[in-house]
Amino acid sequence: MRRLLVAGNWKMNGSKEQAEQLVTALVQGFSGSDQVEMVLCPPTIYLDQVAGLLNGSAIGLGSQNSSEHEAGAYTGETAPAMLLDMGCRYAILGHSERRTLYGEDNALVAAKFEAAKAAGLTPILCVGETLEQREAGETLAVVAAQVGAVLARLGNEAFAEAVIAYEPVWAIGTGKTATPEQAQEVHAAIRAQVADSNAQVAERVQILYGGSVNAGNAETLFAMQDIDGGLVGGASLKADDFLAICQSANG
Ligand code: PGA
Repeated sequence: MRRLLVAGNWKMNGSKEQAEQLVTALVQGFSGSDQVEMVLCPPTIYLDQVAGLLNGSAIGLGSQNSSEHEAGAYTGETAPAMLLDMGCRYAILGHSERRTLYGEDNALVAAKFEAAKAAGLTPILCVGETLEQREAGETLAVVAAQVGAVLARLGNEAFAEAVIAYEPVWAIGTGKTATPEQAQEVHAAIRAQVADSNAQVAERVQILYGGSVNAGNAETLFAMQDIDGGLVGGASLKADDFLAICQSANG
């Protein structure tokens, strides 16, 4: 049985004060569980503060991005080893906002994935189709290419100690959620693709759903066979909503 994972992607939101209020409420409200792991991914600038607030709690920490390089002359970038140093265990990579607004393609995302793993971080690889691609019947091909770029670069152990997040671009921040059946179809296809190269890894890898997850729809999504939790944007900024989502993962 795979443990569920619920990660909060704060994106570029918050302040020192808001981070303190939110994390304090989450630490008070979440006592830990065998069935679900909670992870927070604040903006890089607040990682140290959040790590301090989380210290000793059951809640994990992750970044929203990480460099494909180890160190050196890369102004404005953050190396995976630095994230690990600040207490991160996870790194969200290839989020659709990075792909569309910052030109990250499959090759760059695969390079970031490799660097993150080499440093000891657990990548959360984001994949997903646009509305046009879904309407053109290209969903499974687009997602297969995104997953395939990582398999091609890292081989059949790529997704050991890694997480995948299926996030249909049309569902992110729009209030439109994929139906549990639509999401399950893509999650099953992703798992089958990973199984083609390594059945044991496919059985273990957590595949999260993201895209307008909220306290009202989380339970039915997480009940699907191949949905192992969620990557949550907007609703992760409100303590009560995020706690309720994690509670649904508890079953
Ligand atoms: P949303 O964002 O929950 O606000 O749709 C999800 C994400 O972008 O990870």
